[in-house]
Amino acid sequence: IKVALGIDIGGTNTVFGCIDPQGNCLMEGSIPTQKHDRIEDYLDELFEAIELGLQNPANDLKIIGIGIGAPNASYYSGTIEKAANLPWKGSIPLAEMVRKRLDVPVVITNDANAAAMGEKVFGAAKGMNNFMVITLGTGLGSGIVVNGELLYGHDGFAGEVGHMIVRKSGRECGCGRKGCLETYVSATGVKRTVYKLLARHLGASELRDIPFSQLTAKMVAEAAGRGDLVANETFSYTAKMLGEVLANVVAVTSPEAIFLFGGLTKAGDILFEPVRETLESQLLDIYKGKISVLPSGIVDNAAVLGAAALVWNSKNNR
Ligand code: BGC
Ligand code: NA
Ligand code: ZN
Repeated sequence: IKVALGIDIGGTNTVFGCIDPQGNCLMEGSIPTQKHDRIEDYLDELFEAIELGLQNPANDLKIIGIGIGAPNASYYSGTIEKAANLPWKGSIPLAEMVRKRLDVPVVITNDANAAAMGEKVFGAAKGMNNFMVITLGTGLGSGIVVNGELLYGHDGFAGEVGHMIVRKSGRECGCGRKGCLETYVSATGVKRTVYKLLARHLGASELRDIPFSQLTAKMVAEAAGRGDLVANETFSYTAKMLGEVLANVVAVTSPEAIFLFGGLTKAGDILFEPVRETLESQLLDIYKGKISVLPSGIVDNAAVLGAAALVWNSKNNR
């Protein structure tokens, strides 16, 4: 069976899947992203895991191309540049390095762009020409579709909403600057807010004695569901900030929908409701009542599907 290999490189985990043209996942796996300081060692582990998956005798899969979604990646150059949340610094010619390991066409795009492609081809954005996907994970990514096309910009790096500065002299960001949106609105940002609030609140909170390394955004969401004050305040703070920034981004691209994607969205209404409320209250009149904020339509990994869709969409593979 002919498949495209989709790979989503996240700040925490790397997920891959063999995807057929209809979007079915026929083999999948994952490895941690941060274990190796050398990219070659990371790629060794990744391709061993892929080889292992392909050896499953039930599957006779032939990879016809590889699509990769990665932070700070450019579709034009096939490189990752100065990634804030990855261990490999500088400029990494990822497409070339991957092509050396498996001699098939390789396309690379930003991870959030890949998620947007996934929504457009297989998910909740089918038939939509103007929408954006915001991914909330280790960082905050944005994949923006305008007039039916992914927005790439001059060099392929368009759509870095996570690094829009929202607080002057604010929290330190992995990009080397201060006050970027993703230092507040992301799984990591949520954890940082919890600790800020715990230091200020003296009342009881079930999050108080959990060390930073063990706290997860999911734990915060669950605590909020049980009525924990610090957890609830964290979510309303996070959601409000996201809603405000989205109201500004809407003014640039006029989308019909904004999809939120990633672990943090499992919090459900605790996140979505205040995002919608703030967005609606901050929108310019011409946009009011027209923009839906929705969860991703793909249960599994939209970025893996989208990265694979890039392969299937390139002319040579039709
Ligand atoms: C990077 C983006 C990426 C996002 C999510 C940000 O720190 O700058 O390119 O899409 O994290 O991984
Ligand atoms: Na992007
Ligand atoms: Zn930043």
